[in-house]
Amino acid sequence: KEIVGSVKEQLAKLFEESLRAAFPDVEGVQPMIAICNDPRHGDYQCNNAMSLWNKIKGQGTQFRGPQPVGKAIIDNLPASEMIERCSTAGPGFINVVLKKQWIAKSIERMLIDGIETWAPKLPVERTVVDFSSPNIAKEMHVGHLRSTIIGDTLARMLEFSNVEVLRRNHVGDWGTQFGMLIEYLFDKIPNWEAASAQAIGDLQAFYKASKQRFDNDPDFKERAQKAVVSLQGGEEKYRKAWTQICEISREEFQRVYERLGVHLEEKGESFYNPYIPKALDLLNNKGLIQESEGARVIFIEGKKIPLIVVKRDGGFNYASTDLTALWYRLNEEKADWMIYVTDVGQREHFEMVFAAAKLAGWLPQNENDFPKASHVGFGLVLGDDGKRFRTRSTEVVKLVDLLDEAKSRCKLALEERGKATEWTAEELEQTAEAVGYGAVKYADLKNNRLTNYTFNFDQMLSDKGNTAVYLLYAHARICSIIRKSGRDIEELKKVGGIVLAHPDERALGLHLLQFAEIVEEACINLLPNLLCEYLYKLSEDFTKFYTNCQVVGSAEETSRLMLCEATAVVMRKCFHLLGITPVYKI
Ligand code: ARG
Repeated sequence: KEIVGSVKEQLAKLFEESLRAAFPDVEGVQPMIAICNDPRHGDYQCNNAMSLWNKIKGQGTQFRGPQPVGKAIIDNLPASEMIERCSTAGPGFINVVLKKQWIAKSIERMLIDGIETWAPKLPVERTVVDFSSPNIAKEMHVGHLRSTIIGDTLARMLEFSNVEVLRRNHVGDWGTQFGMLIEYLFDKIPNWEAASAQAIGDLQAFYKASKQRFDNDPDFKERAQKAVVSLQGGEEKYRKAWTQICEISREEFQRVYERLGVHLEEKGESFYNPYIPKALDLLNNKGLIQESEGARVIFIEGKKIPLIVVKRDGGFNYASTDLTALWYRLNEEKADWMIYVTDVGQREHFEMVFAAAKLAGWLPQNENDFPKASHVGFGLVLGDDGKRFRTRSTEVVKLVDLLDEAKSRCKLALEERGKATEWTAEELEQTAEAVGYGAVKYADLKNNRLTNYTFNFDQMLSDKGNTAVYLLYAHARICSIIRKSGRDIEELKKVGGIVLAHPDERALGLHLLQFAEIVEEACINLLPNLLCEYLYKLSEDFTKFYTNCQVVGSAEETSRLMLCEATAVVMRKCFHLLGITPVYKI
């Protein structure tokens, strides 16, 4: 089934034709189409008239200002099913009102051909989304949770847009801390090779204890430093111990990913280690690497401190690994968009890495050209006290506990509403999980990612306002309207037609149709909150429609049930893109 393209894109095609017909001598004019600022004036607007006028006014043109230019653009539009009427306004804006029959037809087609035909078209083929990326033996904290949730949504939106996505978990599995971890393992668990994960127990506690020993016991410190050399030299025993330690962390991370339904492919820091010398050679050959206070560095214009790529002790670091990973992703994996999801605290690091790659000619000078590298930064997670989020009992928040609590609170709320007797135990369990986990994700995604957000169970689990609970229930209610009508929706799709007579029907229909361009905007700007805003507005538009237009038992029942179904389909796709499991019953 062919992808139809967004409304904007379809309008752009028409206006491109008229621009070419009306102004054949003016070159390089791209149609500028936007959603109308004021919906009272139209659905969309074309903004070319003013800039066109500025281009031609000195050249003895017959036109007398931007308004007549706009008029000429309108007069040259090809006949189409799409446009009801156009009018000029202000300094040459063209307002476009779409035909409601066309809106209705487009929705009917989507119901038959599937929502995939509403996927946006993006100018990229393969992307790397580098997200989650916790560190071995250290805590996987709420920052990693944010990265996991935001990164997964970005990956899902790109995948829906038919872009190949390499979902990369850039795990911190390399570095000097492994010397002390390995040495501590040898000391504490002599038969470590046969030992199970339980024997080592809590890896974070293990890390803390080994660090303490490292700081206080000079003999141990020396052994740990030697262990790093042995590990990096590839000595079997040390490799084995390292693998075992990584494996324990990995299992712990995996438990969180499974809960969240997030899929990742691990290529940790260690993976890039063998490629570092070669990548640094390339940079060195371009004359980019200099000696500074015993370290090897790259100076970046406008930055006070240079990017250190070889430490004073000769070792590699976070930056050398990221430069190498960028090289690898560009040249070995042939990605055309590299997306990094971390807290805003790492912005400087990525700016420097990307700037160095530009200096080396790996990335183009112009930010907007591909291949492109983007840092997707996000703010802190705060507790109710306005400080960094922590739970009462422990210093750090165990992510699994957080998800457990969201789920059990949801289960309780469902039981209070009598669902324990009405539903099977499995239904109760699954709904509590979908709503609980969905609430945690949505509370994170609905904010502009750059702002800090306050983690509050009561707020995110409220069934009123802009929450996943409210939206999931809104969807379930639509499903129940359709079920209770007793009509076969598959049958309706084949024979029925949509008529958008009432203004609230038209508004809902138009908003449904704007799905593709919103996903496109969310992808291009890497802003999942745009999709949340869209989804929330969809539920509002639906409520207005449902309040003012009787569905079941009305003369318009068939058409209105189809609108219900289309709303449910689009809502479900939004949930899917946000990594939220829809529910069908409440
Ligand atoms: N492991 C890092 C951290 O926990 C995040 C890694 C992000 N990705 C990257 N390519 N640097 O802060």
